[in-house]
Amino acid sequence: MRLSIPALAKKAREGEKIAMLTCYDASFAATMEAAGVDVLLVGDSLGMVVQGHDSTLPVTLEQLVYHTRCTARGSQQALLIGDLPFGSYQASAEQAYRSSAEVMAAGAQMVKLEGGDWLLPTVEFLTRRGIPVCGHLGLQPQSVHQLGGYRVQGKTPEAAQQMQKDAQALVDAGIGLLVLEAIPATLATQLTQAISVPTIGIGAGPGCSGQVLVIHDMLGIYPGKSARFVRNFMLGASSIQGAIEAYVKAVKSGEFPAPEHCF
Ligand code: KIV
Repeated sequence: MRLSIPALAKKAREGEKIAMLTCYDASFAATMEAAGVDVLLVGDSLGMVVQGHDSTLPVTLEQLVYHTRCTARGSQQALLIGDLPFGSYQASAEQAYRSSAEVMAAGAQMVKLEGGDWLLPTVEFLTRRGIPVCGHLGLQPQSVHQLGGYRVQGKTPEAAQQMQKDAQALVDAGIGLLVLEAIPATLATQLTQAISVPTIGIGAGPGCSGQVLVIHDMLGIYPGKSARFVRNFMLGASSIQGAIEAYVKAVKSGEFPAPEHCF
């Protein structure tokens, strides 16, 4: 039986930190589960770390569905979230519903969408039809060209205030979980305390309800310079499962992220 969304929310309410990782295949899914990871995210980051593109934009719905099926086959207990790729939900709520239905049929229990206030009607449309939604605020990689690069978000008082409004509005529209990417740690802590659903940070500091990293980043196998918020958990580990166990332990104890991983 997989971890349910209410059970995840209960963990967060009781102060247990949530350990989430991206996952794209069955072997990693089984290894992560054995290491105690709570949530597996079939992220569109697969476009960069698996397919070798320089952004997440080329990932198709068909590819996301394929990797969700692979991940679902390798795991039984973790909550499974599937990203909706670029171009598969932005046009209308109906388009988002059709794409979500494919990702859910492939094994996901929840879908993740990037965006703020413009996404509210879609979130409401999906959740009223039984599709749990995870929001994603802060750095939204699908908007990299509009943002002009992978930059920290929410740094000005105006941007921080807009994000606070967006977060509350997304909760009101029905999201059950919120990913916060590359934002100041103080803002992420305020947001986490203000809203009624768990937050999962990636470059958002220790004040979130849980943490997520891209598996290839935390194993130190993605070529190139890593982001400030990444820690290589292979250093000091004797196996991949050992590295993932070290990640789970560091997240649960609050030892990761440390100040050097924060903005
Ligand atoms: O696609 C992804 O891996 C993500 C995480 C970085 C949160 O959205």
